[in-house]
Order: sequence, then structure tokens, then C-alpha cells
Amino acid sequence: MKTSLFFLLAALCLMAVCASSQSTAPAPEQLAAGEKVYTNTCAACHMVDGSGVSNIQPALDGDAVVAGDPNMLIRVVLEGPAKVLPADRPVFSNTMPPFYQLSDQDLADVLTYIRQEYGNKASAIQPSQVAALRRE
Ligand code: HEC
Repeated sequence: MKTSLFFLLAALCLMAVCASSQSTAPAPEQLAAGEKVYTNTCAACHMVDGSGVSNIQPALDGDAVVAGDPNMLIRVVLEGPAKVLPADRPVFSNTMPPFYQLSDQDLADVLTYIRQEYGNKASAIQPSQVAALRRE
């Protein structure tokens, strides 16, 4: 009786660990793919370390939009910040274009990467979440 209870508890713990790692920690392959997209597409403006350039383009490291609502973040990159963010946000002299041409997979990967790297380990973003907003 005692042993079966032990196994039941062990199984429950294992399930809890699996469930939590699925919702928060992204797969290493997704992070590696996202880092590539970031280096090719975003680092020229936001810098490799996400520190930005003051007054020209914002830092992504520690940025509230990066760590915040996934749908808002997806739309910022899909449609461009000017269309999505409040008008009274801080002013930067450069303009960020929309990145509609990136695939759902590339966008999900790069956003997951910046959320892990600069967004205090915020949740991963799936290609289906990007696809849903692209259709709207
Ligand atoms: C040509 C330079 C440039 C490139 C390339 C670029 N950005 Fe930006 N990004 C900016 C500028 C400038 C802003 C601020 C725009 C504004 O507020 O209107 C910005 C804003 C953002 C914001 C919102 C930050 C905040 O808190 O307001 C996010 C998130 C972001 N960029 C992510 C990305 C990602 C991811 C990529 C690559 C897919 C990327 N950017 C590529 C220049 C760039």
C-alpha cells in the first residue's frame, strides 16, 4: 500500500514537471532557430545583446512589451510598432518596418528567443498564435 502511494505521488510529480516545462521552457531547437532570425533580422537595430541604441531604437532587454502579452508582441512585429503601440510612447528617431514577410515559424521562433533572452523567461510563442493574428 505504502509503495503504491509512493509511485502514485512520483507519477504525479513527474506529470507536473512535464506540464510546466511544456508551457514555459521552449525547446532548445526553437531558441537556436530564433537566435538566427534575430541575428539576421533584428540585431542591426536592436543590437546583438538587445541593448538598442539610445534615442534611435529601443532596448529589448528588460522591455515590458517583449515580456508582456504575447498577442501584443506578435502584432508589434507583424504590423510594425507604429500601428500597434500607444501614441504617447517614447520617441525613437528610427522607424521599425512591419515584418509580415517572415513565416509564422520564424516569427514564433524569434519572439520566443527574445522573450527567453531579454524577457525574464516569458512563455514561448507558437506558430499557430502568429497564424491566428495574421488572419485577422
Ligand atoms: C530598422 C531598425 C529595426 C529593425 C530591423 C527592427 N526593429 Fe524593432 N524597433 C525599432 C524601432 C525604431 C522601434 C521603436 C518604434 C516605435 O516605437 O515606433 C522598435 C520597437 C520594437 C519593439 C517594441 C519595443 C517597445 O517596448 O516599444 C519590439 C518588441 C521590437 N522592436 C522587436 C523587433 C524584432 C523582434 C525585430 C526583428 C524581427 C525588430 N524589432 C527589428 C527598430 C527596428
